[in-house]
Amino acid sequence: MSDKKTSNQMWGGRFASGPAAIMEAINASISFDRKLYAQDIRGSIAHSEMLAETGIISAADQQKIADGLNTILKEIEAGTFEFSTRLEDIHMNVEARLADLIGAAAGRLHTARSRNDQVAVDLRLWVKDECFRVAEALKGLIAAFLERAEEHAATVMPGFTHMQAAQPVTFGHHCMAYVEMFSRDLSRVRDAIERMDESPLGAAALAGTSFAIDRHQTAKALGFREPMRNSLDGVSDRDFALEFLAMAAICATHLSRLAEEIIIWSTPQFGFVRLSDSFSTGSSIMPQKKNPDAAELVRGKTGRVNGHLVGLLTVMKGMPLTYGKDMQEDKESVFDAAETLDLMLAAMTGMVRDMTVNAAAMKKAAGSGHATATDLADWLVRNLGLPFREAHHVTGRAVALAEDKKVGLEKLSLEDLQSIHPGITQGIFSVLAVQNSVKSRTSFGGTAPSEVRKQIRYWKKRLAKA
Ligand code: ARG
Repeated sequence: MSDKKTSNQMWGGRFASGPAAIMEAINASISFDRKLYAQDIRGSIAHSEMLAETGIISAADQQKIADGLNTILKEIEAGTFEFSTRLEDIHMNVEARLADLIGAAAGRLHTARSRNDQVAVDLRLWVKDECFRVAEALKGLIAAFLERAEEHAATVMPGFTHMQAAQPVTFGHHCMAYVEMFSRDLSRVRDAIERMDESPLGAAALAGTSFAIDRHQTAKALGFREPMRNSLDGVSDRDFALEFLAMAAICATHLSRLAEEIIIWSTPQFGFVRLSDSFSTGSSIMPQKKNPDAAELVRGKTGRVNGHLVGLLTVMKGMPLTYGKDMQEDKESVFDAAETLDLMLAAMTGMVRDMTVNAAAMKKAAGSGHATATDLADWLVRNLGLPFREAHHVTGRAVALAEDKKVGLEKLSLEDLQSIHPGITQGIFSVLAVQNSVKSRTSFGGTAPSEVRKQIRYWKKRLAKA
């Protein structure tokens, strides 16, 4: 009878160990939350100082606690600290070691606190630090793009829609599009920092505490603007982690689009850019190849980052207030997304800085595919007063003729063009050259080199203040 079997036999199979061991394995987080050791110790020291100042523990005990915690910090950093799965998580590991080191006084540290507000404050501190790292990395990437944009404000390339050459643009203008995208990421990470800048410490298990603690003091000591205003929300909120992941996913998605462009641009068929040796690899069998592996990995790693956002959203969607152990699943998503994003940003900044731009190949491609057809239509509107729709029609006929003759639009003779519309004059050729087409697009945010330079100046000034 199955009810006579031990639970051990019931689980059978790969679970050779008993229920206690399985419980330990599913429950323990020390393998990953040890990453929070510095934040945990910082939070505990701030908490102990506040307990002493409010008279809840003695100054002598606080001194012992702080000394013990600083010893533990050194042990962890020296790699001599012994982490134990039996002690579940970073909080218990540190506290148990503190008891070893200082004895009974260690037991006073957890007064007016719970692991629920402890883990919330630790992770918030970690995510906030990471947000500052991401902001710095984004500034580096934006600076690299500004430099390339300045260098190539007038370098003509095809602009694409539907992946088909549409109208000529400049490479500088294209670079500035990425400046806009990554600047939005930068502002998103700053907004997130603003909102997460509140301390949950002192929310205790969920209801606050009967001890006369000073949450404003601990908030300030830990560099938060103020304490969170609701203890239930304090222990159950993970919006800061979700916002970080959302920002990371959007940023990774931007990086992936850029990676995709770099991969296309660096094919022999396009030849718009050449990646430096440091950001590409050769093939073990095909000697002619130079593969854009770093860009491909940026594109590939985006899947992980985006997945982590969906992962944590899914954990949180079922959480009634307040804390549940489900929330322990927040950390690996955050840590892996952070590590991945940091690496992606660094690799992309390096690629953008180092890649060689082939202006001649870009210009050649910009002139192909009748890319100045819109300019021709605009010329007909401006100089002959045709309604745009009719001009579009006339231009279509010119394109068909060029196709028949297997030449570019600008290579048609004046007679050819006049056979399509008698009003056309020599003047038309000034707009059919890509350089002139680009130069004429001076509308705000347009691709004219003069406008691109204006936008570069704007962003340089704005980022200097950032
Ligand atoms: N390791 C836990 C976590 O990361 C710490 C909080 C545990 N609190 C509790 N009531 N079991 O979420």
